[in-house]
Amino acid sequence: MKRMLSGIKPTGQLTLGNYIGALRNFVNYQDDYEMIVFIANLHCITEYQDPEDLRKNLTDAVALYLACGLDPNKATIFLQTDVHSHAELGYIMACNTYLGELNRMTQFKDKSQKGEKNMTAGLYTYPCLMAADILLYDANYVPVGEDQKQHVELTRDIAQRFNNKYGETFVIPEPLIAKVGARIMSLSDPSKKMSKSDETNKGCIYLLDDPKVARKKIMSAVTDSIGIIQLDKENQPGLYNLIEIASALSNRTMDDIVEQFKGEGYGKLKGYVADVVCEELEKIQSRYNEIMASHQIEEILLDGAKKASAIADKTLDEVKRKIGLEIKY
Ligand code: TYM
Repeated sequence: MKRMLSGIKPTGQLTLGNYIGALRNFVNYQDDYEMIVFIANLHCITEYQDPEDLRKNLTDAVALYLACGLDPNKATIFLQTDVHSHAELGYIMACNTYLGELNRMTQFKDKSQKGEKNMTAGLYTYPCLMAADILLYDANYVPVGEDQKQHVELTRDIAQRFNNKYGETFVIPEPLIAKVGARIMSLSDPSKKMSKSDETNKGCIYLLDDPKVARKKIMSAVTDSIGIIQLDKENQPGLYNLIEIASALSNRTMDDIVEQFKGEGYGKLKGYVADVVCEELEKIQSRYNEIMASHQIEEILLDGAKKASAIADKTLDEVKRKIGLEIKY
């Protein structure tokens, strides 16, 4: 069975973008792959997080993994800091990454071009830690949304470089990006990705949003004045995004949805998208409530960390041996 690994960084509450672009795919793949999924908590602290909020977001993220259908009997689920090898290999990966490569990472480039103040060294070297996350597990595939593709590609470059220098060590991973829903856009500004750090709070649907609030956000989503329901991503990006969301969640093709609403007003289509989204949110939230009440999270994480450490620590030992870091007593 091929191995698949991915993670989510809960710097805030998980979003519909996280669900459509990543989480729901983990669930679909868990029967056919050896699935390893973790909570990337070290990645959260590249920017200051209120400790109380962070703790809550981490717990909610695990509960949401389970509520969305990840099964701890099939997938290994753990918290990144419970497996110490991540941080250690992250440093080793940083020593095998060039500044030029990190300077080219879009996420860092965008932030520095915007003139963000107080950017941390952790934010800059974050892709090295992400490379470690993946390479520790000999993952064949990394299911992610479009925005993370560049990081997986850098991981491949680092792995290849390491293998050339020190001999075959790492499996070269491939990014796996879904055809529909790999980049869900903000509802209030369809030129931007739907993101946890949405300042207006109108463009982003959170998995724990009250369905009434989610419906309101969809009904007031920015569209266009063309007034025709069709698939024109360039000129009608807001409409395209809504149809893509509905398609991903209903398993209907985008063409099929367009066909149904051809000649109708945007309001009717939005109502349908809201129905599909709210139905999904209600399902997830009812399971989330059960999971939070059942107090099973701690046990699942402990068990996951044990399984993950067994794989990760072995890889790290091999890496240290190959580099010449250990002394034989
Ligand atoms: P993060 O936490 O930003 O996002 C988690 C996953 O959700 C996807 N995603 C989206 N997909 C579609 N539309 C959107 N609007 C949207 N927003 C987010 C992301 O592409 C991602 O797949 N660096 C990673 C976390 C990470 C990781 C890893 C992932 C750390 N180590 C190792 C894979 C393997 C991150 O910040 O994702």
